[in-house]
Amino acid sequence: MAMLLLLLLLSVSAVSADEDAFIGVNIGVALSDMPSPTQVVALLKAQNIRHVRLYDADRGMLLALANTGIRVTVSVPNDQLLGIGQSNATAANWVARNVIAHVPATNITAIAVGSEVLTALPNAAPVLVSALKFIQSALVASNLDGQIKVSTPHSSSIILDSFPPSQAFFNRTWDPVMVPLLKFLQSTGSYLMLNVYPYYDYMQSNGVIPLDYALFRPLPPNKEAVDANTLLHYTNVFDAIVDAAYFAMTYLNFSNVPIVVTESGWPSKGDSSEPDATVENANTYNSNLIRHVLNNTGTPKHPGIAVSTYVYELYNEDMRPGPVSEKNWGLFDANGMPVYTLHLTGAGTVLANDTTNQTFCVAKEGADRKMLQAALDWACGPGKADCSALLQGQECYEPDNVVAHSTYAFNAYFQMMAKAPGTCDFKGVATVTTTDPSHGSCIFPGSTGRNGTFTNSTSLAPSSNSTDASGCSSLHLHGADPFTTSVTIGILLLIMAFA
Ligand SMILES: *[C@@H]1O[C@H](CO)[C@@H](O)[C@H](O)[C@H]1NC(C)=O
Ligand SMILES: *[C@@H]1O[C@H](CO)[C@@H](O)[C@H](O)[C@H]1NC(C)=O
Ligand SMILES: *[C@@H]1O[C@H](CO)[C@@H](O)[C@H](O)[C@H]1NC(C)=O
Ligand SMILES: *[C@@H]1O[C@H](CO)[C@@H](O)[C@H](O)[C@H]1NC(C)=O
Ligand SMILES: *[C@@H]1O[C@H](CO)[C@@H](O)[C@H](O)[C@H]1NC(C)=O
Ligand SMILES: *[C@@H]1O[C@H](CO)[C@@H](O)[C@H](O)[C@H]1NC(C)=O
Ligand SMILES: *[C@@H]1O[C@H](CO)[C@@H](O)[C@H](O)[C@H]1NC(C)=O
Ligand SMILES: *[C@@H]1O[C@H](CO)[C@@H](O)[C@H](O)[C@H]1NC(C)=O
Ligand SMILES: *[C@@H]1O[C@H](CO)[C@@H](O)[C@H](O)[C@H]1NC(C)=O
Ligand SMILES: *[C@@H]1O[C@H](CO)[C@@H](O)[C@H](O)[C@H]1NC(C)=O
Repeated sequence: MAMLLLLLLLSVSAVSADEDAFIGVNIGVALSDMPSPTQVVALLKAQNIRHVRLYDADRGMLLALANTGIRVTVSVPNDQLLGIGQSNATAANWVARNVIAHVPATNITAIAVGSEVLTALPNAAPVLVSALKFIQSALVASNLDGQIKVSTPHSSSIILDSFPPSQAFFNRTWDPVMVPLLKFLQSTGSYLMLNVYPYYDYMQSNGVIPLDYALFRPLPPNKEAVDANTLLHYTNVFDAIVDAAYFAMTYLNFSNVPIVVTESGWPSKGDSSEPDATVENANTYNSNLIRHVLNNTGTPKHPGIAVSTYVYELYNEDMRPGPVSEKNWGLFDANGMPVYTLHLTGAGTVLANDTTNQTFCVAKEGADRKMLQAALDWACGPGKADCSALLQGQECYEPDNVVAHSTYAFNAYFQMMAKAPGTCDFKGVATVTTTDPSHGSCIFPGSTGRNGTFTNSTSLAPSSNSTDASGCSSLHLHGADPFTTSVTIGILLLIMAFA
């Protein structure tokens, strides 16, 4: 019994290896004027993007990402998969060159082996699991398997009958791959990588899927999708697909493999046959997606279980072949200018595009210092503005005087309140200005940045989340891992059954 308990606890800790819900961004590089790695990393930093996925293991990018704290998923490109899946030595070389050479300076946290292999490169399917195992054994040999997870991103099109989600299953053609793959993911504490594109499901549904349902917009109750088997209500396509994947895994008897969405997004422009690829829809989808993920909402099947997601994608890739939409999935153009302004309510406006209409809240010239100090104390205390940048050693500590500090705090509060009327007053000692008070490395919330070519926008992260006591404005959320909780409960039940 003690042994059983120990084994079960060990398997639980494997499942809970990655505890945090986050938003990451994919970095495709099919741009005619691809920014340099340094420029890309400057944009990531300016936007406070803390997780990225590369489609290869580009040396320049990995060097530029060193010592930034940014978490990186590297990829084995499909054209290298056959070699790696057929040779343990080739796999070990790949890991030595592309991973071991860069850690720990570059925080590589996952290796995506191939991309949508079952659908894009079915010929390589027979060696897919071998490729993952060879890569894994190279990591084990270097004692890196604890910090780096190995998986392979799937197209959600391998899930059949995905509505109702409870009846979904993986295309059985691929059972000989999926079963050993899931075993591998389970035994290594890794996760299922899934690309989720409600845009395509909507496009291919011939009007069956309402646009609002794809965009996470509220639906009238009579339009809400209900799974007749589970009575779970689905308010958006994203959740339905993720749950379909959970059910498809359960169908194969794997119930504790978490899911990370490796790609999701919406194009901002399309040709005449793609009328719903618009800036407005792309903004709505990505804004709602980010809020949904960061809220730790989970899915109806697994409420509260984080589904970390990488937005597709950082840049518009003008060199991608195919319809116009293919070139327009990016949040930014090649110059680092945002394609649209994401709306993340409660955090003010992020990814501001409009550099002409920024407003800031600053201390009034000549205002009484005692009143400024009182207002400063209020803003950073009961007002719950994020004043962490004012701490000693942080970027806005200097100059250390009440005018500079209250200016920062007033503005942090004002942006947090989405610039609502009356939120820049502070008993008359504050005023609104269009002049960006950012200086040096002290970038004010709401600023589009003025420091070089790639900082013309505000942070992707909620820059001032009132309830975030740590004041940490990164996208990385911390929280209990509900997956562990449910697994633990399952195990307790199991133990009781045994007892
Ligand atoms: C690297 O990322 C992992 C996972 O997010 C984190 O636990 C670890 O602290 C990071 N390491 C560094 C050096 O930042
Ligand atoms: C593959 O290579 C690793 C080292 O990279 C080694 O530990 C492992 O035993 C090898 N596996 C096989 C099947 O040869
Ligand atoms: C299942 O996968 C096979 C192999 O790719 C494919 O030929 C078949 O059409 C798929 N089945 C369905 C229903 O999509
Ligand atoms: C799943 O487990 C059940 C019960 O142990 C078993 O009957 C079934 O064959 C298993 N299914 C698969 C796909 O292994
Ligand atoms: C956030 O989560 C809460 C409960 O967990 C839920 O009521 C709320 O609708 C969620 N908000 C969003 C934007 O998903
Ligand atoms: C973003 O800015 C660019 C360049 O100023 C402009 O062309 C584009 O229309 C703007 N997009 C939005 C959504 O405002
Ligand atoms: C702010 O953080 C709280 C929990 O820390 C969360 O519930 C809320 O959704 C966050 N707001 C935004 C806009 O991210
Ligand atoms: C500028 O900001 C104000 C206040 O937020 C808003 O009413 C106005 O529509 C904005 N103008 C433009 C061009 O975005
Ligand atoms: C802005 O530029 C100054 C001087 O060029 C530099 O010291 C600072 O680190 C830069 N800040 C950012 C956020 O890049
Ligand atoms: C950033 O904004 C400044 C003015 O605010 C402008 O001169 C500069 O060209 C912009 N940079 C880019 C890359 O658009």
